[in-house]
Amino acid sequence: MGKIVILTGAGISAESGLGTFRDVDGLWTKYDLAEVATPEGFARNPRLVQDFYNARRRNAAEAEPNAAHAALARLESAIGDDLFLVTQNIDGLHERAGSRRVIHMHGALDTALCAACGHRWPAPAEMRPEDTCPDCSRPATRPDVVWFGEMPYRMDEIYDAIAAADLFVAIGTSGEVYPAAGFVGEARSQGAETLEINLEPGAARGLFDRVIAGPATRAVPDWVAEVIG
Ligand code: OAD
Repeated sequence: MGKIVILTGAGISAESGLGTFRDVDGLWTKYDLAEVATPEGFARNPRLVQDFYNARRRNAAEAEPNAAHAALARLESAIGDDLFLVTQNIDGLHERAGSRRVIHMHGALDTALCAACGHRWPAPAEMRPEDTCPDCSRPATRPDVVWFGEMPYRMDEIYDAIAAADLFVAIGTSGEVYPAAGFVGEARSQGAETLEINLEPGAARGLFDRVIAGPATRAVPDWVAEVIG
């Protein structure tokens, strides 16, 4: 099979009870993205934004990884460095299912970040605007998540992995948000095969060589069994 790059999105955690963003009752139908997921929104109302991510952190802590997360952990055990797993999710469920090497391109709920000095530390369950940084003591702490208008993390590593990939797989992502939405085109142009696993094909359906439609908890374990036998 060679080298596999997998990109996951909110759909892989949907059956763990965590809402997606753009489905019928998704988070962006209930919250204004500009208010809770941009640097400008945070500057206007840090408490609202901290409360939004405190709720996400609580939901993630109460959720359990599902059979799709577990299947990707098995795949990592079987093929090791030939798997490069990058997630847009901030929920930590891949790690809790046993995956060890996960690239969090949109950050993670379980770390806090100091906007003043760049220090990172384990996030408390409830973050507050008046919290100070344990390193520089300034009250500039924020969730360690990437907001719209900010550069996602570890992009150089991700593009290097895509350039070396034989197969690119997108799981449970709508393909609406760049740069992640551009990975499939990049993978294709570098010669990789492309596979989408999703409840319904996403925005970039034409760029995938193969589509497996179905809920992640069924489709992902079946596909992993196909790969590792
Ligand atoms: P979306 O909510 O945009 O898309 C979720 C995808 O999962 C959709 O294509 C659904 O069809 C699919 N889906 C839903 N339930 C599923 C299931 N049980 N099994 C398989 N697929 C299922 O979420 P993302 O693509 O992850 O960024 O969103 C990308 C980014 O937009 C997020 O990381 C977040 C958001 O705004 C930031 O906040 C910066």
